[in-house]
Amino acid sequence: MSELLIKNVKPYGEGDPVDVLVRDTRIADIGTGLTASDDAEVIEGNGQILLPGFVDLHTHLREPGREDTETIETGSAAAALGGYTAVFAMANTSPVADSVVITDHVWRRGQEVGLVDVFPVGAVTVGLQGKQLAEMGTMAAGVGRVRMFSDDGVCVDDPLIMRRALEYANSLGVLIAQHAEEPRLTRNAIAHEGPNAARLGLHGWPRAAEESIVARDALLARDANARVHICHASTAGTVELVKWAKSQGISITAEVTPHHLLLDDSRLETYDAVNKVNPPLRESTDVAALRQALADGVIDCVATDHAPHAEQDKCCEFAAARPGMLGLETALSIIVQTMVRPGLLDWRGVAKVMSEKPAAIVGLDDHGRPIAVGEPANLTLIDPDAEWTVRGAELASISNNTPFEDMTFPAEVTATVLRGRVTAREGKAVGI
Ligand code: DOR
Ligand code: ZN
Repeated sequence: MSELLIKNVKPYGEGDPVDVLVRDTRIADIGTGLTASDDAEVIEGNGQILLPGFVDLHTHLREPGREDTETIETGSAAAALGGYTAVFAMANTSPVADSVVITDHVWRRGQEVGLVDVFPVGAVTVGLQGKQLAEMGTMAAGVGRVRMFSDDGVCVDDPLIMRRALEYANSLGVLIAQHAEEPRLTRNAIAHEGPNAARLGLHGWPRAAEESIVARDALLARDANARVHICHASTAGTVELVKWAKSQGISITAEVTPHHLLLDDSRLETYDAVNKVNPPLRESTDVAALRQALADGVIDCVATDHAPHAEQDKCCEFAAARPGMLGLETALSIIVQTMVRPGLLDWRGVAKVMSEKPAAIVGLDDHGRPIAVGEPANLTLIDPDAEWTVRGAELASISNNTPFEDMTFPAEVTATVLRGRVTAREGKAVGI
């Protein structure tokens, strides 16, 4: 039997500090003045905030295929350092995760690394080509038990394929997550369509490309009596559409990224491709609407869209650069800056949008659970008073493409616990 005693912490940032005793994989006791066996590991919490471990529905780990930019191991370390105990690894790898061979590999490798539960996302269509449904049932029945499918990176744009995918997913009890982008409206697009892109001579990506797919998929989900999840919502119009769909009783959920909650298209001024991302950074009015929607529950959760890229794919002309930015290690701090500090969310709210709701959306039993006796010990300890400055080279990811370089943020993850084992502590991932 192994014991871990986390002393002097405030669950959900509420009330007086307590001790939390973990025995093996579960929380055994919560109270004051708790003691543990002599060989127990002890974390001195100093009044810091204890939350359930975070769950990221949208992570690109690049394995298999681009291990020069990230691996399941390095991405898992980044996740643990960011306070995550579960991440969903997107299917746009090389080869694409459109078969059980790949999805089972991702699951097994994640378990072998042991820093975070890596849940594989299966592709909706073979090769992300949008033409033929992948064998979702086989992937769902595999060791990796795939419960979310997405062609993320590209949109399932054919409405008939999307309709069939939703029907099929419904019968399997799995979730389809859509990268909402009507490709005929975004050909050659590299930046949000608006005054900034026009002035800078960057080809525009109109809001309607996202919103038209969100509206369409809401209707398809209604008719199929299925659930649909919208990846990285980026516009005020998407917020209105999701709100409408929910008001109709449609089973729709949506996520927002930390970067869309913090940055807008004024960042394009320098032509630095570190700011290139898909969907693009929008306008300040969109940012304000996204923050409010997350506070109101119209947008259900935060997801990072952690997207590592090699230097040669980012440090080049804007049009040629790949879209995407790192996200796992900066997510919590950005949520504190954009949501907690302005009074839009309290710590219980942070637990909801970063842990409980994402776990519920995909139906995880052991993550996003309450901090209570008998529950799995998947936990994140946060120093709310810390400040830190982001340096890409110091992050655990192999790639350095963070748009937050040199920015100073509030709040720091000081420890992460996965099933009773400390996976990160004071800025270092702790391997098995
Ligand atoms: O910016 C993005 N990067 N958006 C996506 O949809 C895909 C991702 C990637 O894989 O790099
Ligand atoms: Zn995407």
